[in-house]
Amino acid sequence: MLRRTVHLLAIAVLLASGCASEQTADPIDADLRRTMRRLAPDGSMDYYQVPHHQDLANVPAGIGNPLTPEKVELGKMLFFETALGIDAVNETGMQTFSCATCHIPSAGFTPGNSQGIADGAEGFGLNGEDRNMRDDYTEDEIDAQGARPLSMVGVAYVQNSMWAGRFGARFNNEGTEHLWGVVDHATEVNHTGLDGLEAQNIEGTVTHRMRVDENLLDNMGYRELFDAAFYDWPENARYGREAMSFALSAYIRTIMPYEAPYQEWLRGDDLAMTEQMKRGALLFFSDAGCYRCHNGPALNGNTFHAVGVNDLCDVGGLATGEDDERNLGRGGFTQRVEDMFAFKVPQLYNLKHAGFYFHGSSRQSLRDVVEYFNDGIPENPRVHPDNISPFFHPLNLSDQEMEDLTEFIANGLYDPNFDRYVPESVLSGNCFPNNDLISQEDLGCN
Ligand code: HEC
Ligand code: HEC
Repeated sequence: MLRRTVHLLAIAVLLASGCASEQTADPIDADLRRTMRRLAPDGSMDYYQVPHHQDLANVPAGIGNPLTPEKVELGKMLFFETALGIDAVNETGMQTFSCATCHIPSAGFTPGNSQGIADGAEGFGLNGEDRNMRDDYTEDEIDAQGARPLSMVGVAYVQNSMWAGRFGARFNNEGTEHLWGVVDHATEVNHTGLDGLEAQNIEGTVTHRMRVDENLLDNMGYRELFDAAFYDWPENARYGREAMSFALSAYIRTIMPYEAPYQEWLRGDDLAMTEQMKRGALLFFSDAGCYRCHNGPALNGNTFHAVGVNDLCDVGGLATGEDDERNLGRGGFTQRVEDMFAFKVPQLYNLKHAGFYFHGSSRQSLRDVVEYFNDGIPENPRVHPDNISPFFHPLNLSDQEMEDLTEFIANGLYDPNFDRYVPESVLSGNCFPNNDLISQEDLGCN
């Protein structure tokens, strides 16, 4: 409140003195703005801003899936609904997991663990760290992938989804049509012409053993939510996988880090970021070169780069190994030599409680990530040196500069109010995001 008042006063003073509205007392603000404007394709600070989650007209939508409050509401419920897990391989896993098992809001929508395991695991801990494979499942039976789950934050800015960008018919995947359904069965769905999220999530509910049945529709009350969201769809499609995907995609598209200090600073509140965060931001957009790959409102990138990090098998990931095709990144999908070991540039918000970084979870703190980029030495001997991005090289930052950069990422890019993206309860009344006995205990559901 005090900040707001000070800010309003500052504006009043500026208006009174007839100064240009963006003049500030602190030279670093002006410096940072000048640097960022120069890098923005349209030369404006708007380029970096995310919309408010309810400002649906400004949230990027996917082809054929206009955003409506009804779809978002349904998607928000489905994302956390453990009652969807009715295709678990064993009876003991039935209805014990959800999308949020591997995409936990308080862990920046990552699993809070080196690997996400839904069906076939149990436990939650405080933030996903105590989830482990169940005794009555084998490694072949669990739902786990050979790369760490990506975040849902700012995912509306992801054009082709997954670390390899396999999903979505447009953007980077134009010209890859001959590979759809050939390299891997799941990418067949790209032939629908849908964008990344909408296409992927049709397959996603199959992969993650989830489905809507008559019980969910009629006894739990989901039919009304589907009817409200898809009133103009024929009844035989209204409760199917495509409808589920469109609702889930609509909801995750609204997950915006609008209340992060950096976003508040972008909207004109110079006091929202500390001096140290601003120094870190300036490094990010200048000498540290981070912006060359991480850009746009979500600081992600729809480009693929090899920075030579280890794979999930190197940290003991289950159901994966050295020959996992996912270790090849974009190249595993396109089969192009130049794409080998290149991974999609991920977003950077709300990572401080994620605990595991890079596709192979090879780093456990943001400071370690910054040091890895500063050293500029690939750690994975299987990655061919020719594939390493020319933007990955030693940076020679001082210890103080690394601290500043870390502070910007950890706290400048941290939105403290993600509760607004979590429902109070799900229609089944089940425990969520997990519903196995140990998780129920951990989550205080009993
Ligand atoms: C077993 C853990 C697990 C569950 C459950 C899970 N995911 Fe994921 N998710 C992942 C992993 C792992 C990736 C990255 C995989 C890759 O790129 O190879 C991912 C990636 C994604 C992405 C791509 C994001 C991007 O930036 O490209 C989206 C979108 C997504 N998941 C949505 C969902 C939705 C919706 C559900 C529920 C239907 C769900 N996930 C359930 C593990 C999971
Ligand atoms: C060459 C392009 C490039 C540059 C330059 C770059 N990054 Fe990245 N960054 C990536 C890619 C690609 C990944 C994912 C790599 C992987 O997991 O294989 C990544 C991952 C990360 C992650 C981990 C995110 C997660 O979800 O695990 C953080 C944090 C990060 N970068 C911060 C930075 C910072 C800070 C800088 C500047 C010092 C920087 N990056 C420079 C491409 C880049």
